Amino acid sequence: MFERSKKGEHALLIQPHSGPLADDVAEEFAELARSAGATIAATLPARIDRPNPSTLIGSGKLEEAKAVADASDADLVLVNFPLSPGQERNLEKALQRRVLDRTGLILDIFAQRARSHEGKLQVELAQLKHMATRLVRGWTHLERQRGGSIGLRGPGETQLETDRRLLQKRVEQLQKRLEKVEVQRTQMRRARVRSELPRVALVGYTNAGKSTLFNTLTGAEAYAADQLFATLDPTVRRIELPGGGVVLADTVGFVRDLPHELVAAFRSTLSEAREADLLLHVVDAADPLRDERIAQVDEVLAEIGAGELPQLLVFNKIDRIEDAKPRHDVPGEGHERVWISARDGDGIALLRDVLGQRLGFQRVRGELRLSNGAGRLRSRLHELGAIVGEVHDEHGWHLQLDLALSDAQRLAAQAGGHALEALLPPADVAEWERDRVGV
Ligand code: GTP
Repeated sequence: MFERSKKGEHALLIQPHSGPLADDVAEEFAELARSAGATIAATLPARIDRPNPSTLIGSGKLEEAKAVADASDADLVLVNFPLSPGQERNLEKALQRRVLDRTGLILDIFAQRARSHEGKLQVELAQLKHMATRLVRGWTHLERQRGGSIGLRGPGETQLETDRRLLQKRVEQLQKRLEKVEVQRTQMRRARVRSELPRVALVGYTNAGKSTLFNTLTGAEAYAADQLFATLDPTVRRIELPGGGVVLADTVGFVRDLPHELVAAFRSTLSEAREADLLLHVVDAADPLRDERIAQVDEVLAEIGAGELPQLLVFNKIDRIEDAKPRHDVPGEGHERVWISARDGDGIALLRDVLGQRLGFQRVRGELRLSNGAGRLRSRLHELGAIVGEVHDEHGWHLQLDLALSDAQRLAAQAGGHALEALLPPADVAEWERDRVGV
C-alpha cells in the first residue's frame, strides 16, 4: 500500500467555472484529492468569467476562500484549474496556505503510485519540470509545514530549495537514465515482437477495473485499489487464450483533461497502448457517466496516436447492474462489447473466447450458397480474403469460406449478411457461457 500523510491533510477545494458547474467535474476533483490522501474540508465554486491575472479568482471570492479555509480548518488549498507560478504564489500569500493546481495534484498522486524504476524516474522528471518554473519564489512566504506533504513528495523538500543550476543538472541526469531505460524497453518490446504474439493492451478511464481484469485474466497479483491511478506502470504478461497466446499489458488509467506535460512524461508507458494489435477498453458499466468516460478515453487515445486501433469494449462491474448477465454484443456499427464482472469472474470465459475470435484464433470454415443478388456480401468476403474456393452456376455462387469468427459475426450483423448466420456458433450466450465456466 502507498503511504498516506500521517497528518491527513485537510483540503479546501476551489472549483473555478465559467458556464454552469457540472456536478461530475467537482466530484471527480474531490476524488482526485482523496486519492492523494487528503480529506475534503470544504468545496467552493468560483465563477471566473474574466480570470484575474494575479490570483485567477476575484478579490471578493479570495476573501471568502480565506474565511472558508479558516472556518473549516483547511491546511491546503487545491484549485481545479491550471495556475501560473505567479498566481499560485499570490494565492498562497493571500490564503496563508499551500496551494496546488490540478497538475500539481495529479503529479503528487503519480509520485505516490509509481512503482517501477521507470515510472519513478518519469514522475520525478515531470515534477522537477513543473517545479522549475515555480522555484524562483522560494517557500519563505509560507510557514514551513511539517507533516503535510501533498505536492511535496518525490524529489523531497530539501531539493525544492536547491538552485536552478542543480535542478537543471538533475533533470539532465534523469533524462539520460530514462533514455537508457527506454532503450531497454525497446529491446524487450522487439523480443516480444519477434515472438510474434499478438499484443493486447488494457485501456480505460481510471478506476474502471483494468488492474482487476488484468489479475483475473493472468492470475497475477497486480495492484488493484479503489483509488484513482492505482496503475502507473504497465505490467506485461503472457496469457493463453483458446487458440493461442497473447501478450497482455495493463496501462495507466486515463482521466479527463490529463495535463499535457503528463501525457508527455508517460509517453513510453502509453506506448504499450499505441503498439497494441487490439485495445481492451474497460468501462465501468454501472457509471452513469459511462458514455462520457468512453469519449474521454477515446480522446486521449487519439492524442497518443492510438485512436484508429481496433477496440473491444469491456463493460465491467455488471454485478452492480440489476439483472445484468455476461453478454456479447456485435453491432453492425461501432465496437463490439462484452459484459463482465472482473471482480466476480463472471463472463471471463466469454471474454477470453471473444478475444480469441478477435485475434483471429477462432475461425469459421464452411460452405455457403449465395444467390446472384448477393454480390455485395460476396465482394465483402473477397475483401476479407475469406473465399478459398468458388463455383458459379445458374442458381448463384457456391463458396468455400475460411474467415475469422469475429469477421463472420460482424458481416452477419450487417444488412444482407444473414446468409452467414448458419455458419456461426449458437447465439445463446448464457448457455455457451455456462458450458465454458472453468475452461
Ligand atoms: P486505475 O489504476 O486508477 O486506472 O484503476 P483500474 O482501472 O486499474 O481499476 P482497479 O482494477 O484498480 O479497480 C478499481 C476499483 O473497482 C477497485 O475497488 C476494484 O475492486 C473495483 N472493481 C473492479 N472490477 C469490479 C467489478 O467487476 N465489480 C465491482 N463491483 N467492482 C470492481
